[in-house]
Amino acid sequence: MTTEIAIENIAQYVGQKVTIKGWLYSSTRKGKLLFMRLRDGTGITQGVAFRPEIGDELFETLKRLGQESSLIVTGEVRANDRAPGVPKGYEVNIESAQVLQDTQDYPIGLKEHGVDFLLDHRHLWLRSRRQWAIMRIRATVKRAIIDFLDSHGFLNVDTPIITPSAAEGTSTLFEVDYFDEKAYLAQTGQLYNEANIMAFGKVYCFGPTFRAEKSKTRRHLAEFWMVEPEMAFFDLDDLMAFEEAFVSYIVQTTLEKRRAELEVLERDVSVLENVKPPFPRISYDEAIERLHAIREATEDEELKELLKIEWGDDFGSPHETELTKQFDRPVFVYGYPTAVKAFYMEPWPGRPEICKSVDLLAPEGYGEIIGGSERMSDPDLLVEAIRRHELPMAHYQWYVDLRRYGSVPHSGFGLGLERTVAWICGIDHVRETIAFPRTLTRMRP
Ligand code: 4AD
Ligand code: MG
Repeated sequence: MTTEIAIENIAQYVGQKVTIKGWLYSSTRKGKLLFMRLRDGTGITQGVAFRPEIGDELFETLKRLGQESSLIVTGEVRANDRAPGVPKGYEVNIESAQVLQDTQDYPIGLKEHGVDFLLDHRHLWLRSRRQWAIMRIRATVKRAIIDFLDSHGFLNVDTPIITPSAAEGTSTLFEVDYFDEKAYLAQTGQLYNEANIMAFGKVYCFGPTFRAEKSKTRRHLAEFWMVEPEMAFFDLDDLMAFEEAFVSYIVQTTLEKRRAELEVLERDVSVLENVKPPFPRISYDEAIERLHAIREATEDEELKELLKIEWGDDFGSPHETELTKQFDRPVFVYGYPTAVKAFYMEPWPGRPEICKSVDLLAPEGYGEIIGGSERMSDPDLLVEAIRRHELPMAHYQWYVDLRRYGSVPHSGFGLGLERTVAWICGIDHVRETIAFPRTLTRMRP
């Protein structure tokens, strides 16, 4: 009897005869032994073929198979400490095999390739160990996000992708032709979330969002996924307490469920283990002081130049990077200048030049992974803000209505999935955290 298994569950089958359907990742030969690294999408394991056992003909066939040939193998699972793989420590003693397709000349070798070449071959690159590990981690992060929110009283309400107006500035809109009317791909679901909380209390949307970002940084995609929780009867302090619990849960859950994948990425997990409440909280004013002090202290002239900043300026990545280096876990920066933030943020009581905004910056130089705020709850202030930002009032009437009929203090935030995954994985660029990245210079494959 043989059982068809997924490699990720191989530990349960030691001593049993199993069938694995997959692809050849690589192979090496030692005399009469052929070691085949097999992958099936859920893991990688070592298949061992022994010439006297399987016969010359099959041995020769297997020996000649090229990388990424598809095949089905059957054999007994053995524990072997030295066997590589994910999970490691297991191998299959091949008894029989059926080749579906012998592939020769697979374009991606196990050697180094340039990133442009790899991105051109993204449809194949996804099969590589590191990319595979990243996508598995991404799925777990996504699952953790949903589990946390669903078990904390949130209702998942989907928000539209085709929208008539901007919510996060007019400079990054992707235009679409909506039956001869101008429309845009959503930059955020937030404004609709604000309508939804007045109906359902706590809600979240989680979907793709679009920004025509003209920047070629390692943090920007043109299409990215954002989870946006929004809560009625929630102020800025409630928001920070909620965010730190949320992010800690995501990180700890990923650590628990994706150890093997993090190991493939050679991630230093000790940093992630620190990610527990409370997170440090500093005001924008204090952040500026800290940045000035860092500038004073450095002898690196280039860095000094990059870190130039005055009160009122928004942070660039170098500022966020240097600030986060001072902490061993994510840090909140709150109370940004009103002028650098979106139109809908609640003014700081007694200091209208700043607002009740808060960004969460990830450590190790990763920077902003969450942007959020308490929202304006007064209809007259909101109308004024819409005017000040020169937004077309007619498009925002419904949004102002929310403040006319039972307005309450409320808050919410958006967490960028790709930036969060990049940080958890410890990788350089967000483009590897999504299966088919869309950037300024790329929308293929
Ligand atoms: O700070 P942002 O622009 O906030 C909003 O859109 C709010 N409406 C969210 C809310 O309060 N409901 O974006 C939120 C997060 C950022 O912190 C970042 O993680 C991610 O979305 N993000 C991007 N990720 C990848 N590529 C881009 N171009 C991104 N722009 C924002
Ligand atoms: Mg932001």
